[in-house]
Amino acid sequence: MGFTLREFLLYSRLGKTDSHWLNMHEAGRLDIVYECIVTSLFLSHGIRRDVTFNAVLNGPPAPPLHLQVSGAQLYDVRTDIGTWEVILKKALSGRPHPGVTVNKTSFETLLKTKAETAPIYVLEEGGKNVSEIELELNPVFVLGDHVGLPKKVEVFALRFGEKISLGKTPYLAASCITVLNYLLDNQTKASGERSGDF
Ligand SMILES: C[S@@+](CC[C@H](N)C(=O)[O-])C[C@H]1O[C@@H](n2cnc3c(N)ncnc32)[C@H](O)[C@@H]1O
Repeated sequence: MGFTLREFLLYSRLGKTDSHWLNMHEAGRLDIVYECIVTSLFLSHGIRRDVTFNAVLNGPPAPPLHLQVSGAQLYDVRTDIGTWEVILKKALSGRPHPGVTVNKTSFETLLKTKAETAPIYVLEEGGKNVSEIELELNPVFVLGDHVGLPKKVEVFALRFGEKISLGKTPYLAASCITVLNYLLDNQTKASGERSGDF
């Protein structure tokens, strides 16, 4: 089976929704958002043009905020923390950067919209093991932050998608994304339909 597009959607319960912070860790764990951006979108010497990363930030002062980073439009970027501190501060203060947008869409509205056109997979240790299912085309993967998805959010997401697991070991959200990209890359290679560029 080939994968033409893939999306990751991180629920950040505390991620700050303004640019008044000194470092990402203290900005409601925006460092997790940064790590997930890197593992979603970057290859060695390349950007995954077929991947979109989304985070919904629910921290103060003005939640929710949907941050979208589109591999198709991203350029002039590196993977280091300094680069992304600048880009996230720009985005959170309403200034544009190629491939990076923010809007006021809530997690629930965003997920509902995506579920109209794409299969939704909710990552959780207790879900069905990913090795036992065949992932559908153009998947959207939902992940929690360092604390995990709030129960209410998980229940909502499961109205639209299936709960899947990478096993009983609790990984960082960014590590889960690396594993999923790897699995999808291999499935895509097997079908000879890789669409990314370098
Ligand atoms: C750092 S983990 C949080 C783990 C935490 N124990 C919890 O209550 O979910 C962040 C997110 O990564 C995903 N995750 C971590 N390990 C996983 C696994 N083994 N299988 C599926 N998803 C996982 C989940 O979406 C989780 O919300």
